[in-house]
Amino acid sequence: MTRTHRIAVLPGDGIGKETVPESLKVLDAAARRFGFDLTLTHYDWSCETYRQTGRMMPADGLDQLAQSDSILLGAVGWPGVADHVSLWGLLIPIRRGFDQYANVRPCKLMPGVRTPLADRTEADIDFYVVRENTEGEYSAVGGRMFEGTDREFVTQQSVFTRQGTDRILKYAFNLAMTRPKKHVTSATKSNGIIHTMPYWDERFAAMAQQYPDVRTDQYHIDILCAHFVQHPDWFDVVVGSNLFGDILSDLGPAVAGSIGIAPSANINPERRFPSMFEPVHGSAPDIAGKFICNPIGQIWSAALMLEHLGEAEAGRTIVAAIETLLRESGPKTRDMGGQAGTADVGTAIAELVAAR
Ligand code: NAI
Ligand code: MG
Repeated sequence: MTRTHRIAVLPGDGIGKETVPESLKVLDAAARRFGFDLTLTHYDWSCETYRQTGRMMPADGLDQLAQSDSILLGAVGWPGVADHVSLWGLLIPIRRGFDQYANVRPCKLMPGVRTPLADRTEADIDFYVVRENTEGEYSAVGGRMFEGTDREFVTQQSVFTRQGTDRILKYAFNLAMTRPKKHVTSATKSNGIIHTMPYWDERFAAMAQQYPDVRTDQYHIDILCAHFVQHPDWFDVVVGSNLFGDILSDLGPAVAGSIGIAPSANINPERRFPSMFEPVHGSAPDIAGKFICNPIGQIWSAALMLEHLGEAEAGRTIVAAIETLLRESGPKTRDMGGQAGTADVGTAIAELVAAR
């Protein structure tokens, strides 16, 4: 029997509507070559939907998406709809509602891409940032009192549960076990944040004991940011709380070069709910509608999706095709110094994937 995967396809806004079709071309080529079926369900939920209906998605939106195995998302956000409205109306409900607690970003310098770091090559930059995506510093606990008076104050509580902390650490260690270096770095700040971060360190040490084959180290978040820039070659899998992971998951792809190629995954590792795969970039209103954006971040995200769905060889083949296109003089979009259109790049990668 053929393996079938049900994919919810949400292009969203702006260049999402240009990059997603290219990733579908590549997915189709991979499905043919590796002998699986993809059942696609298309959703046009976007800022346009919001303008027409007052909602980013229907009230039963999550129930509809729950029918799928994975979600492939373009980008969400468009001028005229406040970013917090579009974010909290679509992306955040999906991430939280489907308990996608692991936000994972490969930070890998690809051939032919210029890193802003001097004298670094592909051999130096190849690591993952794993961010806790549901609790930590981004909690709703807190409040404001004595508003508008001299006594006014605000508090914001961090929440680190044992379950929430252990499960993200475990995800990071399991990811490291699949990598040759088998190395996990923890982002901490236990010298300044004296309750939650020593707890994080304690759970990290406890988890490390269960993985004797994994090498570990930890750095305070401030110097860790400096090390990302000065010593990117020190890292393999870097795990952080919601806030520290947020910072590192933008810094990491930045040291690896163009925003147009960086992928990301929002994963529910237990697979109780669909996971979501999306490029790091947004809807790029400044270039949307011209069909000149780079589709590689979207295509690489689709490759991460296939790996999650158990089609590891297909996923690896797509990443290899991206590397071949970038190394050899394949078509490149403007952000990479080329002149090609979005569809030229998508078609070229799909052809490389199809080739035997
Ligand atoms: P952006 O990532 O959309 O654009 C930043 C800059 O990078 C722009 O100059 C853009 O032209 C360029 N760029 C981005 N992707 C590119 C690609 N694939 N190829 C070539 N160039 C590319 O970030 P910005 O401008 O801050 O946000 C625009 C909208 O996107 C906002 O509404 C924002 O909220 C939303 N956004 C959504 C995200 C998501 O859906 N997860 C993530 C980031 C932003
Ligand atoms: Mg961020």
